Amino acid sequence: MKAADAVAHLRVGGCVFAEKEAGLLLDTYAEGPALEAAVGRRTAGEPLEHVLGYASFARLRIAVQPRVFIPRRRAEVLAVAAVDDMRRASAATFLDLGCGAGAIAATVASRVATADVWASDVSETAVRCARVNAERFGFSVVLSDWWADLPGELAHHLEVVAAYLPHVPDKRLREIPADYRRSEEECAVRGGRDGLDALRAVLPDLGTWLAPSGVFLTMLAAEQLSTAAALVTGHGWVLGHRQLDDDVILRLRPAGQRGDR
Ligand SMILES: C[S@@+](CC[C@H](N)C(=O)[O-])C[C@H]1O[C@@H](n2cnc3c(N)ncnc32)[C@H](O)[C@@H]1O
Repeated sequence: MKAADAVAHLRVGGCVFAEKEAGLLLDTYAEGPALEAAVGRRTAGEPLEHVLGYASFARLRIAVQPRVFIPRRRAEVLAVAAVDDMRRASAATFLDLGCGAGAIAATVASRVATADVWASDVSETAVRCARVNAERFGFSVVLSDWWADLPGELAHHLEVVAAYLPHVPDKRLREIPADYRRSEEECAVRGGRDGLDALRAVLPDLGTWLAPSGVFLTMLAAEQLSTAAALVTGHGWVLGHRQLDDDVILRLRPAGQRGDR
């Protein structure tokens, strides 16, 4: 198959960005049978990232696997916010909580050379995938149901935690693109009735793991801000937020840190 045929096949197969996708496939597959097979997989409904074998995230190539959440470009801003906080505080220890393939951990590890970077997920498949990226970018991966199975040495030592939590309200799950929906575990995105079940699960033990000078960063849909703010402040955390188009980054820190008065 030639490049021009790839574009035509992708377009007929329903790919909106056919030319861009063909270009990416050509970076990985040679024209001919290899490209034809790749285009066939894509038009049969596999996510582009699975056909390529990687997702682009914060200028990195993150290895991906079926059943594991595919890193979303929209979460790059959360990863960059984590890098900024790590640099600002000369912070040593970072955790990507609910890491999936480990894209956020990889971003921090690749940009903050001195950081001790950890990543955790409840899914064994995700942990296996994250370990592939961990070997390349240099971080540690733990199988853990939120905080439950983290190494004890991290208690009160995490200077920055970033968590791109499952936060899609149940009734909006069907809005996720079909190729992603078919390939990812629903528990990677399902957030319950208002999308905030994972935040509710994580908040009660946050104080056990965060360092006294630590911060917790998460990203939600902008429409979830007011409910999330009530939850967070109800647990005694000081909340800052930065609104992006449809998303909002929440930045939680313990009361009494410098700058509170
Ligand atoms: C929205 S995905 C984000 C993945 C990754 N941080 C990223 O940005 O690509 C949420 C992740 O949380 C994980 N997760 C869901 N429930 C969990 C739990 N109880 N404990 C730990 N991780 C969990 C899912 O497996 C999934 O990988």
